[in-house]
Amino acid sequence: MLIKLDHIRKGFGDPGDPSYRAVLRDLSLEVEEGERMAILGPSGSGKTTLLNLIGGLDHPDEGSVVFRGEEITRYTAAEMDRFRNRQIGFVFQFHHLLPQCTVLENVLIPTLIREKTEREEALERAEKLLRRVGIWDHRDKLPGKLSGGECQRAAVVRAMINAPSLLLADEPTGALDRENVEKMAGLLLELNREDGLTLLVVTHSAGLAEKMGNTLELRNGKLESV
Ligand SMILES: Nc1ncnc2c1ncn2[C@@H]1O[C@H](COP(=O)(O)OP(=O)(O)OP(=O)(O)O)[C@@H](O)[C@H]1O
Ligand SMILES: [Mg+2]
Repeated sequence: MLIKLDHIRKGFGDPGDPSYRAVLRDLSLEVEEGERMAILGPSGSGKTTLLNLIGGLDHPDEGSVVFRGEEITRYTAAEMDRFRNRQIGFVFQFHHLLPQCTVLENVLIPTLIREKTEREEALERAEKLLRRVGIWDHRDKLPGKLSGGECQRAAVVRAMINAPSLLLADEPTGALDRENVEKMAGLLLELNREDGLTLLVVTHSAGLAEKMGNTLELRNGKLESV
């Protein structure tokens, strides 16, 4: 088992206040090593909130998140940072590339805290991945000079640069045309097949969801199989 979410509750605001919004309500989920899973759900249903909890970017109000037997919800901030850097690749809904850094600099940022030898390997890996998603020729450009789809592909490369165990992707194909959705799906499936990367992908693309195999829908704060 890679991840186990146990009776998670998460809301925003003060529970006593009328503006309080319960987003995840008693949500449980188990994901096996190497599994591929698509998560669907209407806007505002809590998909991003869920990914943030799994990736340790936010904390549940109740319940636990267990990663390979370790309860990450008990980690200190420093332990959580280390865990995230080693194990998690995050593709954000809005790519969050640093505008003042080039594409290549952006994808190498997660490797900066690593040892020198690891950083050298990372450069090779960056080239391989950037070529694979077709933006190696854009490596020295700033994100502002790229299309939305090209930025999204750079964000996927950045997420993959430290060879994580789990990729959390929040609508990674939202800005892509059909052909590039196919390419992105191909890349994710290849990483899953060859490196055993576990995929948890939030998507509105029926095509991408179908390729993931297992599809769950977030509804009323819980996950239901589709
Ligand atoms: N930091 C926050 N503070 C207050 N409310 C928040 C916060 N983050 C999310 N919410 C609320 O929680 C709900 C779920 O948000 P979330 O971003 O998880 O939805 P989503 O399913 O990812 O939606 P979308 O498909 O539009 O991206 C929304 O009603 C949102 O307004
Ligand atoms: Mg979202």
